[in-house]
Amino acid sequence: MTMILAIETSCDETACAVVKDGTEILSNIVSSQINVHTLYGGVVPEVASRIHVENISAVIQEALTAANVSMDDITAIAYTLGPGLIGSLHVGVQAAKSIAWMYDKPLVPIHHLTGHIYANSFVDEIQFPLLALVISGGHTELVWMKNDWDFEVIGSTCDDAIGEAYDKVARVLGLGYPGGPKIDKIAKEGKPNYTLPTPKVDGEYDFSFSGLKTAVLQLIQREEKKGNEVQVADVAYAFQETALHSLIDKTIKAVEAYQPKMLVLAGGVAANSRLRELMEKEFEDRKDVKLIIPPLYCCTDNAAMIGAAGAIAYQHGCFGELYDAAKPSMDMPHENM
Ligand code: KG4
Ligand code: ZN
Repeated sequence: MTMILAIETSCDETACAVVKDGTEILSNIVSSQINVHTLYGGVVPEVASRIHVENISAVIQEALTAANVSMDDITAIAYTLGPGLIGSLHVGVQAAKSIAWMYDKPLVPIHHLTGHIYANSFVDEIQFPLLALVISGGHTELVWMKNDWDFEVIGSTCDDAIGEAYDKVARVLGLGYPGGPKIDKIAKEGKPNYTLPTPKVDGEYDFSFSGLKTAVLQLIQREEKKGNEVQVADVAYAFQETALHSLIDKTIKAVEAYQPKMLVLAGGVAANSRLRELMEKEFEDRKDVKLIIPPLYCCTDNAAMIGAAGAIAYQHGCFGELYDAAKPSMDMPHENM
């Protein structure tokens, strides 16, 4: 039996959860800073770390209270060590180390994206080999897992992450921050009146979204020059269809080549309703690969997912030290490293 106290502060959510045996969420507290960052049109790192400092103690206390457990019941403290914003990560890392030192508990440092992937274990038992499409504000990666707790990045973005592209396009369309949910919603009213170029990259499983973002900007400028009113919903539709089809095409290519037993979506962009619909349709008749899509509450950043990954890392004996420091850039654990 493991009872993991998990802490996540890599970006703009202060989060703490208690997870039993890796799959049972006893509490999952997320204090979002979105209202503050919306005022600036994006996450302001210095502001984010200050709000983490203000909230972290209360969020941890609330997670323990909601789970109805005390520190005596906790097996280990799992926490996001990286990647992420250094100041934000630092607050969670220091909180985890302080509690571990005070209560003499083992530390389990977690790579943020492994958390996003293992969030799927709240849906179904994870099977290997597994392919994960990790899509968030900071990452766009295809991750191959031959075995449990073994991650090999087989493809990634050459420039912007897909979530970043959603956020930037939403900004130029005047939709506000965070852009993903806004584009998701307005694109439903969009019509196929604009065409955007399909992103092209050399790497077989790599992605690119910055050219697409520029193409959106040029499309808007062109329409304005011609004196035409820009149809925001139609631009959102064109951007989303182009971005998602490029994502899905590469994923299918990797599925054909690697033949995983399971394909999982992970990260904030996995909350996208159009992507969920397209992926479900694509894989509904396939018997060879099982598609798992995480529930909405664990697509965007939360600590329950860090608890799920923490339970596996704990089983694998991946422990941290009191002198560990936050790693804003961090590699995923892989057997050949
Ligand atoms: O995983 P996450 O919460 O944070 C990072 O680790 O980056 O992902 C946040 C990203 C943002 O870029 C946000 O715009 C995007 O996920 N996002 C979405 C949707 N909900 C959140 N993108 C598209 N459609 C959505 N419904
Ligand atoms: Zn994330």
